[in-house]
Amino acid sequence: MSVNITEKIQTLKKQRNAVILAHNYQPEEIQDIADFTGDSLGLSAQASETDADVIVFCGVLFMAETAAILSPDKTVLLPDKDAGCPMADMINAAQLRELKDQHSEALVVCYVNSTAEVKALSDYCCTSGNALELVQTLPREREIIFVPDKNLGGFIVERTGRQMILWPGYCSTHVRILPADVESARQAHPNAVVLAHPECNPDVRAISDELLSTGGMLKFARTSSADEFIIATEKGIIHSLKKQNPEKQFHPVTEKAVCPNMKKISLEKVVWALEDMQYKITVPEPICSKARRSLDRMLQVLPK
Ligand code: 13P
Ligand code: SF4
Repeated sequence: MSVNITEKIQTLKKQRNAVILAHNYQPEEIQDIADFTGDSLGLSAQASETDADVIVFCGVLFMAETAAILSPDKTVLLPDKDAGCPMADMINAAQLRELKDQHSEALVVCYVNSTAEVKALSDYCCTSGNALELVQTLPREREIIFVPDKNLGGFIVERTGRQMILWPGYCSTHVRILPADVESARQAHPNAVVLAHPECNPDVRAISDELLSTGGMLKFARTSSADEFIIATEKGIIHSLKKQNPEKQFHPVTEKAVCPNMKKISLEKVVWALEDMQYKITVPEPICSKARRSLDRMLQVLPK
């Protein structure tokens, strides 16, 4: 890592009274300069609690939008304006309105990987870190619509026994992980525990040992007596896993599990973000207030 650029970021951060938040899938050098690295739930909590004036969100658009909704008086910057999430864009407000019209009595739960408009039309938001706990609080007699991830939704159905209407969205990075990748990684590392993200397809989920959010994987690796793991999620998390557990071994299930949008953030772009205060992410009213209701409900449910 360039010392000069790191020092420059530290100086600019002080001048702007800024905090840098980074998702676990960010490039290694971004994780290393961040004030907080974490999963979607942990970062949302950080964004709602910080007393900084500026939040530099090293992640993708829906994460920066979430921070802007939770902290409307702060300036939220996304260092690359094109860092989006294809899954979040797989359902729009008109499509969700139509689905709600077809199931007028249903409660709507949206994954945090969704647009602000979709959150505004939802009753509850959740992350993969607290989806099971949140759905278990919902009245059993109510129908549930879950958007946009059919894989996280399918995982909730499997674990809670609640039938849900699932939107057919998916993460284009996690669906690249195939059962054959898990099998060959197991052959190469027969003693390793396989940790997979619930965004993986059902055939991968079925042959994995544990299904966890990225925050859940970090906690599991820290507390487990196992010392070798195969990681079936975006490869960026391996950096934090190794940093936190230098005595343990972590193997990516496949080199293909890379989210190109997460990798759009660079140290240079963080400098430009702080210098030029770009790119400001704002969410207009009334979408902001409506989306905040479903996000506040998400923040009240802690993962186990
Ligand atoms: P978590 O870090 O909440 O598990 O999210 C995974 C993800 O795909 C974020 O885009
Ligand atoms: Fe979206 Fe998947 Fe990338 Fe997460 S890993 S930002 S869900 S495309």
